[in-house]
Amino acid sequence: MSDLKRKILAAVQVDLEAIETALAENLKPHLDLVRDVAGHILFSGGKRLRPLLMVLSARVCDYTGGYDKTFSTALEYLHAATLLHDDLVDGASLRRGKPAAYLKWGNPIAVLTGDFLLARALSVSAATGSVRIVQILAELTEQMSQGEVHQLMRKGDIRLAEDEYLDVIRRKTAVLFEAACRVSAVLAGAPKEKEAALAQFGFNLGMAFQVADDLFDYTLETPQMGKQVGADLREGKLTLPVIHALRQVQAADREWLVSIIRNPQFSAEDFRRVVDLLGSCGAIRYAEQTAEKYIAIAKRELSVFPPSATLETLVDIADYALHRHV
Ligand code: IPE
Ligand code: IPE
Ligand code: MG
Ligand code: MG
Repeated sequence: MSDLKRKILAAVQVDLEAIETALAENLKPHLDLVRDVAGHILFSGGKRLRPLLMVLSARVCDYTGGYDKTFSTALEYLHAATLLHDDLVDGASLRRGKPAAYLKWGNPIAVLTGDFLLARALSVSAATGSVRIVQILAELTEQMSQGEVHQLMRKGDIRLAEDEYLDVIRRKTAVLFEAACRVSAVLAGAPKEKEAALAQFGFNLGMAFQVADDLFDYTLETPQMGKQVGADLREGKLTLPVIHALRQVQAADREWLVSIIRNPQFSAEDFRRVVDLLGSCGAIRYAEQTAEKYIAIAKRELSVFPPSATLETLVDIADYALHRHV
């Protein structure tokens, strides 16, 4: 484990434990089957990044209301719901090193449990009594589902440009990070400039997080990821490294890369060649730099807050987003 990860874990251990307890207590399923499927996705080693960001953001806004841990479960339930649906849509085999839920219980049960988790997220939000908070959660759910639909629409299309890719990841990933940070400011009744700063922090962190996740699909190994590496390419999902490579490489390499994108049966050797090509044409570095750029913006946004241990942890989490495999 890296020193940075150790430092973050030490700083947030008490919060993480409280979030874990709240996640178990607030699930409230009527059926054992729903408990099993929801439990499979919820209690299998997720990093709890979104609820943690919510709790820490509330703290830098001096929130003292006592509903933060409970409310933070809404973000994780929503995240888990989208993962249940996402794995089915992506045809993913592994999630956190375990078989994806739809493979174990079938599509209908996975979809319906995802719906249950979405509804739990909204119920937990509604208990705040704040229409604004419910509105933020509902809007972000609209965005996420449309981000996933957008991505699906453009699957296998080698003309997908960087701007459109960024628009997809903004919707499917960054808005949830943005909301996690924004709602805490709303819950705390923080001034507008603090809410805006936290929202921007979350948004930019979310963008970096997804760019990094997409990069890891080429640079990490499956056990490290807990997800099947190379899955994006096999699905025809074009992400930043490939988008950049397609516009950088010579005609012959481009033609070969396009043939791989069009052939989901490519071999392990082909995949290694793709990774080499992404490295040699600067596409890996380009994606890293893009993620770093978002992280730098995210951290800058926090300057409206006075220095504190909690603020330092938020900064550490931003840095960790790019190096979360170590
Ligand atoms: C996975 O998110 C989905 C993406 C947005 C890339 P995380 O990497 O936060 O998933 P867990 O919950 O920690 O497994
Ligand atoms: C992120 O997209 C998932 C959602 C935001 C629902 P990915 O499809 O890249 O995430 P992983 O790689 O399956 O975790
Ligand atoms: Mg996926
Ligand atoms: Mg991915």
